[in-house]
Amino acid sequence: MPTSVSYPINAFETPLIDAGELVPGARILIKDETRYASGSHKEPAARAVVARAIAEGKRRIVIATCGNYGRAMAMGAGALGMPCTVVLPAGWSDGGAFMREAGADVVLVDGAYEDAVDESKRLAQADGAVDGNVDGPYVADVFAGHGLVAVALHAALGGEPPAALWVPVGNGTTVIAIARRFRDLGWDVPIHGVGSAGNNPIVTSWPGEYRMLGPDEVTTTDHNQPLVNWHALQGAEAMAAIAATGGAVHAATDEQLLAAQTVLHAHGAHPTAGGSVAMAGLLAATELSGTHVVLLSGR
Ligand SMILES: Cc1ncc(COP(=O)(O)O)c(C=O)c1O
Repeated sequence: MPTSVSYPINAFETPLIDAGELVPGARILIKDETRYASGSHKEPAARAVVARAIAEGKRRIVIATCGNYGRAMAMGAGALGMPCTVVLPAGWSDGGAFMREAGADVVLVDGAYEDAVDESKRLAQADGAVDGNVDGPYVADVFAGHGLVAVALHAALGGEPPAALWVPVGNGTTVIAIARRFRDLGWDVPIHGVGSAGNNPIVTSWPGEYRMLGPDEVTTTDHNQPLVNWHALQGAEAMAAIAATGGAVHAATDEQLLAAQTVLHAHGAHPTAGGSVAMAGLLAATELSGTHVVLLSGR
C-alpha cells in the first residue's frame, strides 16, 4: 500500500520536544522548525511571500539563498503553482538539486551569498517578477511568516514566558520577526542569538555597533555554510532587537555545532550542524535556570 508523508505547514504543527534537564537546573524545550517538507525554518516566511505575490498578481518570485530559503521557496511556490527563480552560489548546498526537483528555476553564480543577492535583485526587475528576498518589498510578509513560531510558542506555553529563547542568526531576519511578535504579544522573553564564530558581523560586532566584515574575512565550511555572512542584511536591526529583549549574541565554532547536533540526535531531532547552532549556544552557557527554548533551523 502506498504511504504518504504529511509535513507541517506552519509553526503550530512542528514539535516542541521536552529535553528535560539537559542542562542542570534548567528545563530545555526544543522547537524543531526543521520538520517542514523543505527542512527549513524559513518555510512559513516563504509561504507568506508566495501568498502576497499571488494576491498582487505577480508572475514570478526571485530570491537569493544559501540553500535553505531557496528550498523553502521552491516548496512554498511549487505548492501554489507560482514560478520562482532561486539564485545560489555555485558549489553551495546541494547545487540546487532539491529546488529544481521542487520546480524552481535555479541560477548559479560565482561568489558568496551576497553576490547571489545582487544577481537576484537584477533578475527581479523583469516584468511581472518580484524580489522575494528577506530585505525586499515583501519584508512584512517575511516577518509575519517567521513570527508565527513566536505565536505558536506563546500558545504552547500557555502564556507563561520562558527564561530565554535561543535563536540562530544569519541575516538576522528570524530574530527580528520573533522579537516583534513577542512584543506584540506582550511577552517579555530575552532572545539569545547564536551564530558562526568569526563568520558573521552580528557575532563579531556584538555588543558594539554593527560593522560589516570584508568578503575575505569569513570562512565557509560544510558545517557553518547557512550561517556565514560578511554582511548580514538585517544585522543592525537584529542586534538592536536582541539588546532590547535583554538577551545577547553568542558565537559557536564548528566543533560546537557538531557536538550540539549529536545531543539533538539523542532527543529525536535531526538538524544539520548549522541548524543546531542555537543549541550550541545554549550548551556553552553557564548558570541557566528556568525554561529555555531552543529553535532549530535546518535539516
Ligand atoms: C539553517 C539556517 N539557520 C539559520 C539561518 C539564519 O537565519 P536568519 O537569516 O533569519 O538570521 C539560516 C538562514 O538562511 C539558515 O538557513
